[in-house]
Amino acid sequence: MRKIVIAGNWKMFKTQAESQEFLSGFLPQLEETPSEREVVICPPFTDLSVLSKSLHGSRVQLGAQNVHWVENGAYTGEIAAPMLTEIGVRYVIIGHSERRQYFGETDETVNLRLKAAQNYGLTPILCVGETKQQRDAGETESLIISQLQKGLVDVDQTNLVIAYEPIWAIGTGDTCEAAEANRVIGLIRSQLQNPHVSIQYGGSVKPNNIDEIMAQPEIDGVLVGGASLEPDGFARIVNFR
Ligand code: G3P
Repeated sequence: MRKIVIAGNWKMFKTQAESQEFLSGFLPQLEETPSEREVVICPPFTDLSVLSKSLHGSRVQLGAQNVHWVENGAYTGEIAAPMLTEIGVRYVIIGHSERRQYFGETDETVNLRLKAAQNYGLTPILCVGETKQQRDAGETESLIISQLQKGLVDVDQTNLVIAYEPIWAIGTGDTCEAAEANRVIGLIRSQLQNPHVSIQYGGSVKPNNIDEIMAQPEIDGVLVGGASLEPDGFARIVNFR
């Protein structure tokens, strides 16, 4: 019932030329990938248009890394949902911890972005997760419940993916133990009205830990940063066993 969604978040990496080079190494490795796995690449905005053309007819979906909640207007530097859907974007990451940490994203703006994305038929990937300090202080559960409660006000849970990304595990090589990620994702599921929402794990996912992560019963996919930048590594992740 729950869809498996494997997404690569390229963050602020790869020019158009580099993105094309990635595809030439990556796409041929998807021939044996089970068809029920959804494969998503979320490149920088400047790559979306060219990737949309290159991915036409392939099984890979495109995602953006953010979206504004207003459909157009005087918002210098922002991108609106219809600009994304027009070029074939299907997914959008919302509330990534780097947006929350460096760009003033709050649970309230996350909520606005989620609703705007859904209004235009985009599937949001809502990111939640705790810092090291919050974990050490025993606040993981209460923080995540609060992020969900505030973020999901009036959000349609039939068109939603959630990613649990413990901040201390992002880009550090310090992966959350698979069993612990499974436990927190079970907690997230217990907070949802729709039990069929796909919930991903993100944070130092690599070719050498993907099989153990995907063997966990609550984990429906992964949101991959660094390891999604390299075609062979990301292909191995998509083709988990
Ligand atoms: O959104 C994915 C991400 O934050 C995880 O990054 O590099 O630890 O896989 P990384």
